[in-house]
Amino acid sequence: MNVLILNGPNLNLLGKREPEIYGHETLADIENAIRHRAFDKGVGTDFLQTNHEGVMLDRIHEARGRFDAIVINPAAWSHTSVALLDALKAFEGHVIEVHLSNIHTREAFRHHSYISARAEAVIAGMGSFGYLAAIDFLAR
Ligand code: DQA
Repeated sequence: MNVLILNGPNLNLLGKREPEIYGHETLADIENAIRHRAFDKGVGTDFLQTNHEGVMLDRIHEARGRFDAIVINPAAWSHTSVALLDALKAFEGHVIEVHLSNIHTREAFRHHSYISARAEAVIAGMGSFGYLAAIDFLAR
């Protein structure tokens, strides 16, 4: 099982950005925890964080036939991007959507995610543990 972990815009600022919502861990901390969990489960990983939607789309296209699953925190693109939904629809493997915060208890514009229509599972509100839960789910 090979899993591509994708993080969308502004998630490079984790640890500094609204820590009361997103926590004090940096993205590097979270990626290290995922790497360890995946290693324990015999799961291969690759990572991308980008603030550029086209870069994310290209990476999803390249993942076709190379990865068994994508774990994605689409961040703000969740609420805006049909292009991201379509790219994920063109990927044949598992797709798990992760949000650190519970988007359903926040502003109304965060309640809808375009990506959820393609996701096999949606995890929101578990903080960084959500990514580990996604790895456990895929490895089961
Ligand atoms: C987020 C929630 C989104 O609404 C927001 O735009 C983010 C992060 C989360 O992980 O809770 O950037 O996806």
